[in-house]
Amino acid sequence: MSKITAAITAVGGYVPDFVLSNKVLETMVDTNDEWITTRTGIKERRILKEEGKGTSFLAIKAAEDLINKTGLDPKEIDLVIVATATPDMKAASTAAYTATQIGAVNAFSFDLEAACSSFLYGMSTVSAYIESGRYKKILLIGADKNSSFINYKDRATCIIFGDGAGAVLFEPNNEGLGLQDELMRSNGEGREFLQATYGGSSYPITEDTFQEGKHYVFQDGKTVFKNAVFNMADVAERILKRNNLTNDDISWLAAHQANKRIIDATANRINLEEKKVMMNIQKYGNTTSATLPLLLHDYESQLKKGDNIIFAAFGGGFTWGSIYFKWAYNS
Ligand SMILES: CC(C)(COP(=O)(O)OP(=O)(O)OC[C@H]1O[C@@H](n2cnc3c(N)ncnc32)[C@H](O)[C@@H]1OP(=O)(O)O)[C@@H](O)C(=O)NCCC(=O)NCCS
Repeated sequence: MSKITAAITAVGGYVPDFVLSNKVLETMVDTNDEWITTRTGIKERRILKEEGKGTSFLAIKAAEDLINKTGLDPKEIDLVIVATATPDMKAASTAAYTATQIGAVNAFSFDLEAACSSFLYGMSTVSAYIESGRYKKILLIGADKNSSFINYKDRATCIIFGDGAGAVLFEPNNEGLGLQDELMRSNGEGREFLQATYGGSSYPITEDTFQEGKHYVFQDGKTVFKNAVFNMADVAERILKRNNLTNDDISWLAAHQANKRIIDATANRINLEEKKVMMNIQKYGNTTSATLPLLLHDYESQLKKGDNIIFAAFGGGFTWGSIYFKWAYNS
């Protein structure tokens, strides 16, 4: 019997309608379109404005897009994972709410948090479940409402982040398509450089910390940048080497969209031409857990059965990794 691999068989996506452009940001903080474009590659990002709507709203929309496109019966879904760094609430699972709302009544569900690497870690988790033969249809959703913890007076963060969601369906494959290899890493010494310090279990929010805005996300951009460039390029290069792949064997690089310069550095390290590098950072900014599935959503029509894709991500924690993947269908 041939080995079961974990393939992606459908993709959906959603971004909110409200567009926050660099021009509008110029009126909010001391920045300008030219600086943001040349330093990050971002032109605009989407923001979920409706009151009372959280990450699950984005996740549900992305999942519904997938379900409507494919005619998938949600009752057949075995497991729903919501990869997110911005869950709706503390204690209550965002994935459980999402699964119920989309009609996945026979599924169990949980949230998975690894900052900007959440979706990549989710791919690893889902693939292990599928390869074991335990479950057959798993919906992995990457969704983040980053605007919920961004300080729109802090130009080091507010220019980068946006809101969005992408959903992918994983199913068993016996043609050898899907996840081929992975290299996942983390290093907790990095957490001081990118975090929302207050509001978790270490430091609950007090009146003073709230006034000082300490519940917002903070980053030491330069240090995060250096670590992202080094580590993402490193794992991408290593996964190519250990699978005896050259740049000619690679159809696409799907890298976390945090800064175009970080993506370019990773592509350069593995000698990949620009046309093979998926890019949508200009439209959405950094949507954290949603960047990888939104790339698949935006590029789905160009992907062909058998295409070799190198996924790479880096995020807070620090967390990072790379996955070598074979695409399973023509759309
Ligand atoms: C945040 C980030 C875009 C800043 O870019 P940078 O090139 O590192 O910029 P620096 O912080 O070195 O600042 C360079 C200059 O631009 C200025 N500057 C910083 N932010 C600015 C902004 N938004 N608009 C205009 N000028 C800005 C600085 O004050 C500095 O000016 P100076 O040279 O006169 O002192 C970049 O560090 C980055 O992308 N980091 C990683 C982000 C990331 O990946 N985060 C999520 C992890 S998944």
